[in-house]
Amino acid sequence: MKTYAHVFQGTAFTSHTPKELQILKDHLFCINEDGIIERVAAPGEDGYDDILTTNRVHRLSPGQYLLPGFIDLHVHAPQWAQAGGALDVPLYDWLHTYTFPLESRFADIDFAAEIYNDMVGTLLANGTTTVLYFATIHKEASLLLAEICAKKGQRGLVGKVVMDDPAQNPVAYRDQDTPTALEDTEQFILAVKQLAPSVKQGVYPVVTPRFIPSCTDGALKGLGELAAKYDVHIQSHCSESDWAHGHVKERFGKHDAFALHDFGLLGDKSVMAHCNFLSEEDVSLFAKTGTAISHCPISNAYFANSVIPIARWMDKGVEIGLGSDISGGFSPSLFDNARQAVISSRMLEDGVNTELPANERGVSQSRLTIDEAFYLATAGGGESLSLPIGRLAEGYAWDVQIIDTVIPSAKLPIYGDEPLHSIFQKIMYLSRPENIREVWVQGDKVHTRQS
Ligand code: GUN
Ligand code: FE
Repeated sequence: MKTYAHVFQGTAFTSHTPKELQILKDHLFCINEDGIIERVAAPGEDGYDDILTTNRVHRLSPGQYLLPGFIDLHVHAPQWAQAGGALDVPLYDWLHTYTFPLESRFADIDFAAEIYNDMVGTLLANGTTTVLYFATIHKEASLLLAEICAKKGQRGLVGKVVMDDPAQNPVAYRDQDTPTALEDTEQFILAVKQLAPSVKQGVYPVVTPRFIPSCTDGALKGLGELAAKYDVHIQSHCSESDWAHGHVKERFGKHDAFALHDFGLLGDKSVMAHCNFLSEEDVSLFAKTGTAISHCPISNAYFANSVIPIARWMDKGVEIGLGSDISGGFSPSLFDNARQAVISSRMLEDGVNTELPANERGVSQSRLTIDEAFYLATAGGGESLSLPIGRLAEGYAWDVQIIDTVIPSAKLPIYGDEPLHSIFQKIMYLSRPENIREVWVQGDKVHTRQS
């Protein structure tokens, strides 16, 4: 009988489809040496008892449950230093008053090391096992972020940010010129690719034009070519706010989606943050090219001047995941962001202006369920990145969080013989970092919570 690197026994929640949760009660999860789920066995199934007798088993305690690790599709790692602050002005002012000055400090590698170590550790402690990161324009500090992910066991997709347009970016914080921006990006891609073979959980370079307004046409074109040359992921901000969306319309006479496409920046490995002002045609282009939306509901409440009709775009079948957008969004938790995704969708559906009659106030059929928001935080993120992550199923990486609902410091209000779906909803709405007892990535434990 076969032995595995690890076998876990417990009840797990995973997405079956965007709308449908799958509950795997008392299942066995058999993990191989590569950290992949090789077999999932249900009680009563052939072999279930044999697996139990031939393997040492991690048996979850009563009140503990397995969730897939969360996948955060949009984090600005340097902005962790200002999370929770600087939320009092619109996007353009926020970038120029607070954000660019902060990011410029990452020329100092010691400062970068302190913030990046804290950021990666904090996200792991919040159950986030894979992150699509923006670093800064500095290639050394950006590489350091990739190395910290590698060392701490998080799956990191990291971009050196490009912002080369002298007319749009302050002299203290921009790429020296377009050729330098492209050369630095290429060197960064090569350095991360050199690091990657030694990193079990994976580390990936990402081509990262900050957003169209910060880049020259030459940089956007060159970045599209680099992404094609090295077959790497691409990320940017897309049609985020009235100002950002309007800027691109004025410059190119089209929406961000079509402009990005012209530069070769939309494809199966592309993830675009926010996307609040996408049109029906933009979304069709996303679906056709395999481009994903990173939905950032907390950040959007501050900077996007709108609520994105995410339920409508989910029904169109475009790939969508969830992003915290640290620090446009203040919370490093995708639990918080999943909650906000539901709350914002309900406000979009009902509307908010009480001077309007109820039937004119909102946008019908906009609501998301917490099950759908969970999908976005897990399987939707995995599909967006085209990686086998985000589901507790055979062939997927063993990236999990073990949630304890009965610890005294953060006991969830679960009483008697509650249905498992009800327990799941309470976990999604009420869990705090204290409830996340262990986090595993690619078959290795990367976080334990003692108190
Ligand atoms: N647009 C360009 N840069 C940024 C950023 O750092 N955060 C957000 N939310 N939007 C942006
Ligand atoms: Fe952002």
